[in-house]
Amino acid sequence: MSEAPFARRALTVTGMDELGAYRLLRVADPDGPEPQAGQFAMLAAAERWGGGEEERPYLPRAFSIARRSDGESQFLLEDVGPGSRRLCELQAGDRLWTLGPLGRGFVAPSAGRRAVLVGGGVGIAPLAILQDALAAAGAEAAETTVLLGFRDAARAEGAALLAGARVATDDGSAGHHGLVTDLLEAEIRRDPDVVVYACGPAGMLEGVRALCERADTPAQLALEAHMACGFGACFGCVVPRRGGGYLRVCVDGPVIDAGALERVDEHAGAPA
Ligand SMILES: Cc1cc2nc3c(=O)[nH]c(=O)nc-3n(C[C@H](O)[C@H](O)[C@H](O)COP(=O)(O)OP(=O)(O)OC[C@H]3O[C@@H](n4cnc5c(N)ncnc54)[C@H](O)[C@@H]3O)c2cc1C
Ligand code: FES
Repeated sequence: MSEAPFARRALTVTGMDELGAYRLLRVADPDGPEPQAGQFAMLAAAERWGGGEEERPYLPRAFSIARRSDGESQFLLEDVGPGSRRLCELQAGDRLWTLGPLGRGFVAPSAGRRAVLVGGGVGIAPLAILQDALAAAGAEAAETTVLLGFRDAARAEGAALLAGARVATDDGSAGHHGLVTDLLEAEIRRDPDVVVYACGPAGMLEGVRALCERADTPAQLALEAHMACGFGACFGCVVPRRGGGYLRVCVDGPVIDAGALERVDEHAGAPA
């Protein structure tokens, strides 16, 4: 894994694509460190990042690195508040402060086990770069199963970020009408020799964790606890560790072995 330079870097936006209800922010970063799948970056627009009249500048916000290709880093954004809204407004040529890649990413499946990628909502982002990494390591597309859950069809358009995804929606407007964990349960029953890689809202992650525990299936969960610093200094992102103590999601994760958690903290998931 490459070490992140411990300083933020000013990068230039190369484009912003629409992906249904989401936006895909593309940023030129030809000399940046290669991220490990599952790592994240702290992002802040260089201009108009809070700091308006009687307003303080916002803290940088955490975003998973969704893809890296040809010297470009990509981030999948959902507009859920002032920071993500400002990032969604960025256009080619705008400048972006970036700190990262940060944290610990996914660990490759052990020999004889297939990867099953399970994503919910904007939490599908780190699974795209994971799918790329598995393919680069020689995994045949057919060996990797991708199961993605969304609230509705507009959000389900985000599934185009990954190849060959099977989709579930809460309202039945696309794919399976129901939870993505329904698809996961059937998949584990069909073939138990898998490793599950998951990222999404806390309720979904807890469903995945509990299902994998019952089935004795190894799982790695990418958590998205709210973060202030992103590098271990503020303890704003802690979650309880099974057996006592706490984990700092920004440095002990964001990818955490499911066995290290008694349950997924309700504040530790992607925006629902
Ligand atoms: C490691 C990590 C990776 C992330 N990756 C992505 C990503 O790829 N794409 C993306 O769109 N977002 C991602 N997030 C979440 C993103 O950081 C927040 O959505 C963002 O900080 C919201 O900022 P805001 O100013 O827009 O909204 P805020 O005003 O900060 O929040 C708006 C609403 O969203 C809720 N919220 C904020 N952050 C989170 C969170 N982390 N989890 C659950 N609910 C939250 C708040 O409680 C509030 O209700 C990630 C978070 C972490 C920690
Ligand atoms: S965000 Fe500051 S310690 Fe994790």
